[in-house]
Amino acid sequence: MDFYLDTAQLEEVRAAAAWGVLRGVTTNPSHMARAGVRESEMRRHVQELCWIADVPISVEVVALEADGMVAQGLDFATWSPHVVVKLPTTVEGLKAMARLSRSKVTASCQGCTHLTDCPIRARFAQQQRLIRQPEINATLIFTVNQALLALAAGASYVSPFVGRLDAVGEDGVALVADLAQILRVQQQPGKIIAAALRHPVHVTAVARAGAHIATMAYTILTQLIEHPLTTAGLEAFLQDYRRSQEER
Ligand code: E4P
Repeated sequence: MDFYLDTAQLEEVRAAAAWGVLRGVTTNPSHMARAGVRESEMRRHVQELCWIADVPISVEVVALEADGMVAQGLDFATWSPHVVVKLPTTVEGLKAMARLSRSKVTASCQGCTHLTDCPIRARFAQQQRLIRQPEINATLIFTVNQALLALAAGASYVSPFVGRLDAVGEDGVALVADLAQILRVQQQPGKIIAAALRHPVHVTAVARAGAHIATMAYTILTQLIEHPLTTAGLEAFLQDYRRSQEER
């Protein structure tokens, strides 16, 4: 399972990227607002995330009608070859997924301050992936059928919101498990991004359930690596080491 960060905070992405485990970033309008990013600053911010982490970055539209979603998605996809267009799983969202996934966009990276000699862009150019069909992350998924419709409309990723289902007395992990099983049975491509995770137990549970990706807050990522026995064990090893050096 791949680990994604669910944030728009540059410092969190920088820190997680340094661990060597970060495979993607999911943003949404709430994350952008929390990071203090205005609409006019979004392109530069996303380009900075791309530069810091060199991983797929989901960027969510705010239009409610398909035409507006498509226009925003086409624009986002020019910002960086790493942009994945995030669309709500509504009727208008499905229409936009169908249109966007069949369109072609060039990631010009216009306005990026790292454009000159950017190794990320050079790699995509070499792989002939600068002109591409935008990848789509279908968000706000709460049922298997919503996910299946999104995949049928052309989404590459579907994001079930695990914690939000748990919060209303439903079973978010069970949704991930159902969906994973159905994709296997149907031999259907598409990746499940388990989203709205609330704690480390969710992360293990969605991995067991078959999620391809888990996206989580930076605080959850840090909780995954911490264990008091690891800390105590390391301290004891170091004490023994220091003592052995003093004895010589
Ligand atoms: C997923 O891509 C969403 O950004 C995210 O997980 C939202 O979840 P939350 O706001 O309930 O944490």
